[in-house]
Amino acid sequence: MELAGKVAIITGGGRGIGRAIALTIAEHGVNVGVLARSELEVNETVELARGKRVEAIPLIADVSKPDDVKRAVDGVIAKWGRIDILVNNAGFARFKPFVEMSIEDWKQTIDVNLTGTFLMTKAVVPYMIERREGVIINISSVAGLKPLLNQSAYCASKHGVNGLTTTLAMELKRYNIRVHAICPGGVVTRLSEENMPERDKTDWMLPGDVAHSVMYLLTLSPRATTDIIYLRRYNSVPLGG
Ligand SMILES: NC(=O)c1ccc[n+]([C@@H]2O[C@H](COP(=O)([O-])OP(=O)(O)OC[C@H]3O[C@@H](n4cnc5c(N)ncnc54)[C@H](OP(=O)(O)O)[C@@H]3O)[C@@H](O)[C@H]2O)c1
Repeated sequence: MELAGKVAIITGGGRGIGRAIALTIAEHGVNVGVLARSELEVNETVELARGKRVEAIPLIADVSKPDDVKRAVDGVIAKWGRIDILVNNAGFARFKPFVEMSIEDWKQTIDVNLTGTFLMTKAVVPYMIERREGVIINISSVAGLKPLLNQSAYCASKHGVNGLTTTLAMELKRYNIRVHAICPGGVVTRLSEENMPERDKTDWMLPGDVAHSVMYLLTLSPRATTDIIYLRRYNSVPLGG
């Protein structure tokens, strides 16, 4: 895909991995709609993106709320009239043993990670179908590929994201819409710090490492694709190892 002049929505773009993705693709000339709930963080990403000579707009919204999602997507269409790239990155985690997990913990995890991805995709896809072009990248997790202790809700949500990804990759191909997932291991962000404060993160990945994989997906040869990227820490062991 030729990137300059394209339009992307990055959910969870206020900080962490989402901010790195927004700024990396902005560097390649992509205009960005930066979506999250915290206005201050979103505005900061928007300002940083504008510094890269693209247009950027804040989209203050909760991905788990259908009305918010509609308002955000309407805002992007009103501004640019098109959406070429959707990165479903907004995420929530509360790691705890299953026996201590409440229905609220469960619901919030599924609502943001899985239903949020569904709602955003549902709202954006009609505009991609119209143009017969689009790329959807879901930021999943290694928790979508294997079981992890005390992460049952998070694992369930990310396994769901992977299932949604590969099914949509088949369903939306007829409209020339590509659908991918990236499953990173540990990345240094607020989410990982809040949930795993005890872990030494000196050799963990940085948000820019995930953004680099997004660029790989956006610049794939038209003849090639990949469905799920497993991006692990260099010092970790391969899946199943
Ligand atoms: N860090 C890791 O080790 C790691 C590893 C694998 C996968 N991931 C995935 O990477 C993604 C980004 O996470 P991160 O590590 O960068 O975490 P982060 O720094 O906590 O950022 C999460 C972003 O999502 C937004 N968000 C959360 N709930 C939202 C909602 N309901 N509606 C809209 N935006 C919402 C947050 O903004 P607001 O709170 O202001 O809304 C924030 O901008 C997540 O999907 C996560 O599961 C992270």
